[in-house]
Amino acid sequence: MPARTVYLETFGCQMNELDSELVAGRLASLGYRLTSASDEADIVLYNTCSVREHAEQKVWSRLGDLKAKKMERPGLVVGVLGCMAERDGQALMKRMPVVDVMCGPGELDKLPELLDNAVRTRLSLLADEQTAMSAGARSAGVAALQGNASRRSSTLSVANDSLEMLDLSRSVSPIDSQAKASAYVRITRGCNKFCTYCVVPFTRGAEVHRPPAHIVDECKRLVDAGVREITLLGQTVNHYRFEHDAALVIDGIVQPQKGRSYKGGANGHRRDPFAGERVTTFADLLYQIHEQVPDLPRLRFVTSYPRDFGDDVLEVIRDCPRICRYIHAPAQSGSDRQLALMNRGYTVAEYDEFIQRCREHLDQPEIGRPLMLSGDMIVGFSGESDEDFALSVDLLRRSRYKNCFIFKYSPRPGTTAFDRLPDDVPEEVKRRRNNELLAVQAEVSDAVSREQVGRTFDVMIEGISRRERKRRGVDVKPGGGMIELTVGGRSSAAAVLAEAAADASGLNGQGESVQLSGRTDGDQIVFIELAPHESSRAEGLIGHIARVSIDRAERLSLFGRLEA
Ligand code: 5AD
Ligand code: SF4
Repeated sequence: MPARTVYLETFGCQMNELDSELVAGRLASLGYRLTSASDEADIVLYNTCSVREHAEQKVWSRLGDLKAKKMERPGLVVGVLGCMAERDGQALMKRMPVVDVMCGPGELDKLPELLDNAVRTRLSLLADEQTAMSAGARSAGVAALQGNASRRSSTLSVANDSLEMLDLSRSVSPIDSQAKASAYVRITRGCNKFCTYCVVPFTRGAEVHRPPAHIVDECKRLVDAGVREITLLGQTVNHYRFEHDAALVIDGIVQPQKGRSYKGGANGHRRDPFAGERVTTFADLLYQIHEQVPDLPRLRFVTSYPRDFGDDVLEVIRDCPRICRYIHAPAQSGSDRQLALMNRGYTVAEYDEFIQRCREHLDQPEIGRPLMLSGDMIVGFSGESDEDFALSVDLLRRSRYKNCFIFKYSPRPGTTAFDRLPDDVPEEVKRRRNNELLAVQAEVSDAVSREQVGRTFDVMIEGISRRERKRRGVDVKPGGGMIELTVGGRSSAAAVLAEAAADASGLNGQGESVQLSGRTDGDQIVFIELAPHESSRAEGLIGHIARVSIDRAERLSLFGRLEA
C-alpha cells in the first residue's frame, strides 16, 4: 500500500483525545503519515462527540464542507469515529454519503482494516468508468459499530477484549514525550450509570476495567519515556474494580494476577469487602501506581462520581505525596427533585457530605496543598423550576469549586430523558440560568483564587507561557500538549529560549524577563515571572517542579515568583 496521509480531528472529552492519540499511533506504525493540514490528506477522520447537540452540529458542518472537496477529489476517504458514529449508526451514512467509514469508540482496534477496505472500495469505484462520474457522491460504506445490544461484562478476559489491545499497543517513544510531558492512561472504559440525560452508556457501552498490571506497566513506560504527569481516565473513575478471578489470557497464556491492597488508615467508609487478593479497588490501584512508579512526579484522575467514593481513596490520596489533590466530581444539580429525575443516585445532602469528607481528608493549605474541586452543572433539565434552579445556585456557592463547567440541557435521542421527560424549559430561560450560574461561579472562582495569594506551591513548570509566545511572535496552535509547538523545526520552547538568549546578549547587553506557565497539584494555572537574571534557568525548569510564591491572582490564574 502506498503511504497515505491522514488528517485526524478530535471533538469532545479527554477519553476521545486519548482514543485519537492511540489511533494516530497505530496508523503511524502501519505506515500512514499524519498531517495537521486537512487539505493535503487522502483520508480525513473526525473523532466525534454526542454528549450535546452542539458538539454534533460542528461535525455535521465539517462533513458538509467535505462534500464539495470530494467532488473535486473522488479518491478522498472520509471517516467518522467515536460517539456520533455509534449513536447514529448507518443513518449517518445515509444522511451524509460523503462518509466512507464509520467506527464506534468500542471498535477502534478495527479501524486500520476498515480504512484499508474503504480505500480499496473507493479505488475500484473510481476504476469503474460507469461509476467514476458519480463516485464523489458515493460512499464506500464500511462500518464497525458495537450496537446497543452488546453490553459486556465488567472484567473481560483480555482474549475477548480486542479493545484492550489498542491500549496495549500504545507506542511510547521518547521523541513523542519531549513534546508532551503529560499523558492520559485509561483505567475503565464505558459507563454503567445511565443518568437519564446521558448518551455515554449507549455510545461507549458497559463498564470494562483494565487489568491493574497493564495500567501500571503503561504508566512505567510513559515515565521511562519522559512523561511527568499522568491522568487516569474513566467515566466514573472511582468505580474502578478489577476482579482477579476472571481469566486473563494473552496469546493463549493465562496470566496470574494478584491484587495488592492499600492497608492504610482505619475507620473505612464503604470499603470493598473483597479488596486485596481477589479484587483491586480504585484505592488499591492508586496506591500501586504510586509505589511502583516512583519516578512519576504527578498522578491525577478524572472524572469522579460523587457516590461510592470511599475514605480508603481519600486516605491513599492523603498518604501518597505524588497524588494530586484535585477532584472533579460533577453534582449536575442542587435540587433533590432534579437529581432523582436525572437518576443520579444521590441526594444533595449526600453530595454535601461527600465534599465535606474530601475537605476533611485533603484540604491542607498550610503546607501549600489546599484541596481543589471542580464540577459540572446542567441547567434547564426537564421540569427545572425557579426553586430548583435557586438550589443549584446555593450548591455552587457552598461547593466552592475552583472552576465549574455549566451546560444547558440538550435532549439526546436514545436516552431515557429524551423518551420520557419533556424538554419543557424554554431556551431563553436555559440561557438566562446558564448566564446566572456562570456569574455565580465567576465570583466563587475569583474568591478561591484570591485565597491563594501569599501561599507557596509546588508548581510543575509546563513551558513558556502562551502570552510570552504571542508577545515574541511565535506561532501558537490551539489545544494539545504542553510544549508541542514547532518553529522552523525546533520546539517553540527552544525557539523562544533561543530568542530570549539572543535578546539577552543583544545590543543593550541586558537579559529579559521570561514568563513561564505551570500548574499546582490542585490544577490551578500559575504564571511565573522570571527576572532577567533568572531567565537563563528557564529551559532547565521546564518539566520540573519548582517552589513558587503567589503574589497576585486572577479568576483562573495565579501569578508568582520562584522562591529564592
Ligand atoms: N445535556 C447537557 N449536558 C450534558 N452533559 C451530559 N449529557 C448532557 C446533556 N444531554 C454534561 C454533564 C456531564 C458533562 C460531561 O456533560 O454535565 O458531566
Ligand atoms: Fe462525548 Fe461522552 Fe463520547 Fe466523550 S464519551 S466523546 S463526552 S459523548
